[in-house]
This record gives sequence, structure tokens and C-alpha cells, in this order.
Amino acid sequence: MTTTTADAGRRDAALELIVAAQRSPATACAYLGTEAEGVRAELDDLDTPWRETLRVSVDDTGRVVGAVLLDVDPEETMRSWIHGPWTRDEQAWSEHAAALVRAALEQLPPGVEQHELSAAPAHTGMARLAAELGWHATGVSIAYQATSATTRRWPADAPGVRVAAPADLPAIAALHDAAFPGTYATARQLLADEARSTLVLEHDGELSGYASGEIQADGAGYLDFLALAPDHRGRGLAPGLLAAISRELLGRSGQGTVNLVVDEANAPAVALYEGFGYVRDAELVGYRSWPQPA
Ligand SMILES: CC(C)(COP(=O)(O)OP(=O)(O)OC[C@H]1O[C@@H](n2cnc3c(N)ncnc32)[C@H](O)[C@@H]1OP(=O)(O)O)[C@@H](O)C(=O)NCCC(=O)NCCS
Repeated sequence: MTTTTADAGRRDAALELIVAAQRSPATACAYLGTEAEGVRAELDDLDTPWRETLRVSVDDTGRVVGAVLLDVDPEETMRSWIHGPWTRDEQAWSEHAAALVRAALEQLPPGVEQHELSAAPAHTGMARLAAELGWHATGVSIAYQATSATTRRWPADAPGVRVAAPADLPAIAALHDAAFPGTYATARQLLADEARSTLVLEHDGELSGYASGEIQADGAGYLDFLALAPDHRGRGLAPGLLAAISRELLGRSGQGTVNLVVDEANAPAVALYEGFGYVRDAELVGYRSWPQPA
């Protein structure tokens, strides 16, 4: 058995294998969707070129039986996200999964020492692999989706919502760092990214909240950050901000959808999204290499 880089033919074989694995909750391990074109578009959109990071396992007959790839931020967060491993079947999992993760980690630049994997909660093989690596499970996260049909239930945009400006950076950074510590993008990166939509909510002359999302390579809208300042929560301000960012992303989405991922334990956020008619689409558990917070 060998773990190796992939030429065009093996890349296509790996994609086929990834799409098949994504279709079952027992083997799915990313929010990449389950359609070949969408998966390819999502991979093409990763910051780290997947054709370079892709490693495949090949059996004695030369057939691709496993795949892994990664995304890395070697500048700000110094983290890596391992996508996969995916394998053709359980036997290939037991023979190749650990070697594939090693092949991903071996590619990382110095200084990147925090790594994350994810998988559907039903993926018991990934839970075992993470435990062998000594990585700890995060809570379950839920992927939600809204479509244009959902908007009937939404309130009007809050009057104090506007597009974020460079001068908002300190206030947004304070909210962002408190609500999403150590996440994959800093507030500075959000504001610098012109392809993103970042809105702020002003209330009583203060910056009460912000929301930020983008259109993914497959045309789906993705809302990844929304937070209110702690002393502005529980006052009914969230719906006007959520309505504004959701409408903005829906309007730009070629697919007419907005997706988001939220921690299952985050009751106010889950209640907010379900009240908006966002529908549960999939679930994932994260596995992290760095120490669990106390
Ligand atoms: C998510 C967030 C924006 C919601 O704003 P909020 O002002 O707290 O929201 P609300 O007070 O309007 O509550 C939203 C809903 O959750 C319900 N809720 C609030 N706290 C709750 C709790 N502890 N348990 C269950 N439901 C709760 C409210 O009753 C409300 O439901 P309703 O509209 O059916 O009455 C805010 O809590 C926040 O900034 N959290 C930190 C960042 C975050 O987690 N963002 C979302 C991650 S994607």
C-alpha cells in the first residue's frame, strides 16, 4: 500500500471516491455537499490549492482507495484543516486512514501546529482515529439552509443596519474575537475581503452587532459570523440583523440558498435560525489537536 501525490487520473478517481463517501453520514466528513460539480467547485475555492495537497492511497492493483487534502492559514491563525480522509470502504479505512492524515500533516509549513478534522457524528471510524491521535471532539455543529421560499417569515431589516466600513474594524474585532475565539478568519481578514458581505448594526449610537458572509464557489450563500455585543443581546435586535444579511446573501446566491453552521449547544442562535425557517441539512463533529479549553 502506498500514499502518494495524485496525477490528473488519480485526482478524478479521488473526487469520485470523495463524492460517494460524502453521501453517507457514516463516512461524510465535510460540508462539501454531495454533488460532484459542487464538491469540485468547493475544493477549487479552498485557499490552499487542493491539487497540490491531495494525497491518495493506492492499493496493489493501482486503484485509488483513499484520499485526503488540507487547507492551511500559515499567516494569521497558524492552523490547518484536514479534509478527509475518505476511503473506498472500511477495509481501506483501517489500512490507510491514519497514513493519509500523516501525509496531510507532513506538508504543513513550520509554525502550523493546530489542526482540525471533522466528520458526521455517525462516522465512528473518524472518532476512533481522532482518539488515537489524541485530538479532542468539539460539540456537534448543525448545518442549516434557507431558500428564497423561506423569506416570507422574515422581519424587515433593522433600520440601523449598514455595510461595514474600515473604521469599524476595532469594534468588529472586539465582538468577533469574543464570540468566535481562534476561528479561521480574523476581523481584519473579513473586512479586507471584498468578495464578502459584512454588515454592522448600529443601535443607540453604538455598534451593537455585525454579520459576515460570502458566496461560495458552488453559488451557495454562506453566513459564517453573526454576533451581538453581550449587553445588546436578549433585546430582540438579532432578527433585524439576520434578516438583512440573509437577504443580502440570498440576493447574491446563484443557487438561491444561504447556509450556516452553528454549535448545537448554542440555544439562542439555534432558536433564532429555526424561528427564521432555516432547515437542518447536516451535522458534523470537529476534532482538534490543541488542548480542550478548561
Ligand atoms: C446569536 C445571537 C446573535 C442571538 O441574539 P440574542 O439577542 O441573544 O437573541 P434573542 O434574545 O433575540 O433570542 C433569539 C431566540 O432565542 C431564544 N433564546 C434566547 N436565549 C435562549 C436560551 N438560553 N435558551 C433557549 N432559547 C433562548 C429567544 O427566546 C429567541 O427566540 P424567540 O424569537 O422564539 O423568542 C447572540 O446570542 C450572540 O451574539 N451570540 C454570540 C455569537 C453567536 O453565538 N452567534 C451565532 C453563531 S453562528
